[in-house]
Amino acid sequence: MTGELSPIDKAKYVAAKRSVDFIEDGMRVGLGTGSTAAWMVRCLGELVREDGLKIKGVPTSTRTAELAREVGIEVISLDEAKWLDVTIDGADEFDANLNLIKGGGGALLQEKIVATASDQMIVIADIGKEVEHLGAFPLPVEVIPFGWQTTKSLIEELLINMDVLGRDATLRMNGDRPFVTDEGNYIVDLHLARIGQPHRLSMALNQMPGVVENGLFLDICDVVILGFGDGRVETRDINDGSIAKDRIDFVESENLFADLDD
Ligand code: A5P
Repeated sequence: MTGELSPIDKAKYVAAKRSVDFIEDGMRVGLGTGSTAAWMVRCLGELVREDGLKIKGVPTSTRTAELAREVGIEVISLDEAKWLDVTIDGADEFDANLNLIKGGGGALLQEKIVATASDQMIVIADIGKEVEHLGAFPLPVEVIPFGWQTTKSLIEELLINMDVLGRDATLRMNGDRPFVTDEGNYIVDLHLARIGQPHRLSMALNQMPGVVENGLFLDICDVVILGFGDGRVETRDINDGSIAKDRIDFVESENLFADLDD
């Protein structure tokens, strides 16, 4: 199975593998969503089953909740946990300040709530996610279905006065129907190419009545763990400015590599 993994998947795996070193007995852990986060959930599950690691996990989507239970992690709600020690999640883009675009998988709302309720947020990513300026990846904006077309038009109007290069907004689809989030909302993807002032844009978007949340994660992430296809891992901590480099041996494990569908 591992022989079939692409260099990108290997990079995601080694970043995920390194991230679980941050987890200790008794921690309440936010569990992200997406293909990289799925590796992390599998790695954590292995530690729970084989090393007796005792943690409680708060998932950021129904699909992460299902996977966490499947691999043996005790799942609790955010309201039961109240506050988390750490959240580990993937990202669609990150810049030098560890600001992020998230929500490619549509789980940005729960992801942002959970990450914000954590002492520390760790992002796991392959090198392709690093950017000089956020915005090449379409920015997801979660909107309520009521009056979504009006909300979309208002967003397009708002973008005229924003420091962005592109201004197209598209409703995310799932086949021939709108994509619906875990919270029953729609997603409008903004094709901005380059976001000059992410804080200003994020605040302006979130002030609009039909907007629930946007995929800019600003000043939330503390650590990025970057994986490379050859097993190298780089851990960057924005708080102390440290950069640690090491390597993870890629060892085949049937339990980890079987049936990943995310
Ligand atoms: C899910 O809504 C997203 O925020 C993901 O964390 C993000 O899209 C990264 O996903 P991958 O790890 O699959 O690239």
